[in-house]
Amino acid sequence: MELKITCIPGDGIGPEIVREAKKVLNKVAEVYGHEMNFTDILMGGASIDVHGVPLTDEAIATAKAADAVLMGSIGGNTSTSPWYKLPPQNRPEAGLLKIRKALNLFANLRPAILYEELAGACPLKEEISSKGFDMMIMRELTGGLYFGARKTEEVDGVLKATDTLTYDENEIRRIAIKGFDIAMKRNKKVTSVDKANVLDSSRLWRKVVEEVAKDYPEVSYEHMLVDNCAMQLVKDPSQFDVILTENMFGDILSDEASMVTGSIGMLASASLNDTKFGLYEPSHGSAPDIAGMNIANPIATILSASMMLRYSFDLDKEADAIDAAVKQVLKDGFRTGDIMSEGCTKVSCSEMGDLLAERIQ
Ligand code: IPM
Ligand code: MG
Repeated sequence: MELKITCIPGDGIGPEIVREAKKVLNKVAEVYGHEMNFTDILMGGASIDVHGVPLTDEAIATAKAADAVLMGSIGGNTSTSPWYKLPPQNRPEAGLLKIRKALNLFANLRPAILYEELAGACPLKEEISSKGFDMMIMRELTGGLYFGARKTEEVDGVLKATDTLTYDENEIRRIAIKGFDIAMKRNKKVTSVDKANVLDSSRLWRKVVEEVAKDYPEVSYEHMLVDNCAMQLVKDPSQFDVILTENMFGDILSDEASMVTGSIGMLASASLNDTKFGLYEPSHGSAPDIAGMNIANPIATILSASMMLRYSFDLDKEADAIDAAVKQVLKDGFRTGDIMSEGCTKVSCSEMGDLLAERIQ
């Protein structure tokens, strides 16, 4: 089949890791008889430098015309880059928020997995990490604090800033349904995370999740307060299967979960709408300090490409081939600097891409 993919190389290490993902996808196309049709668009700082804004309407239109979007990373050093002298709506991150909203990507899937071969990198005590873990964080991505009205004003000579956290029941229901659907394909457990002891939006969240849960009698579910969840993630991450939560809590908890794996360079993500369309990106950022040095780990982006094949194109065999290649390359002892350990062979970003492409069968 022909796969129309819009790529966003972006900033920092983005262009390097996207290049390796394309390499692996081209190998998949060759082995399985598909045709990859890539179109690049600018977003983030790369777009600011050319167009003065982090995402143009033309770029959004190009993304919409594709079947899926594969992204590297955007943004620069927030204390030194000139991009952060611009007004907030013109900074790199605004491009990411704009594309999420424009493409209605309300469901963000962030897996956090402890890879057996990399268990040594897990910062938790061995008695905790030895149990292993494999969870999926389902983060609502187009509502809540991120998209509520905000302003900064001066009231009686005092500066005052306001952000608003709003959810309607439909926004909660559609992400809850996705969460329970995903749980059905996994270990059938949902932990819905909120702050219902304080926030109205969380009390509504709880009510709607309970309604949705009735349609999934096979899935066990629980509610957990977000502060407790932050603790449980380091105390016993093996208790989680699907964590279902709103935008801001999901932003924070997904970073915590990825850190607990010890290998953030390995974690993929998918942002989906109601159709098969999705945007796929690594969970990590643009790492401006190592940009252009060919030492970044491209695996998270390559695993994001695998999620793309699975969720947007229903190409499970091909996705399995990428996942298997990643496992094999780790077994064969190859590591980029971020996951390097004694006795392994250190390779560059492009060498890792080559090694993975070779292992696609
Ligand atoms: C993420 C990032 C973004 C977010 C930033 C870059 C706006 O932290 O994807 O988690 O907060 O959603
Ligand atoms: Mg984040």
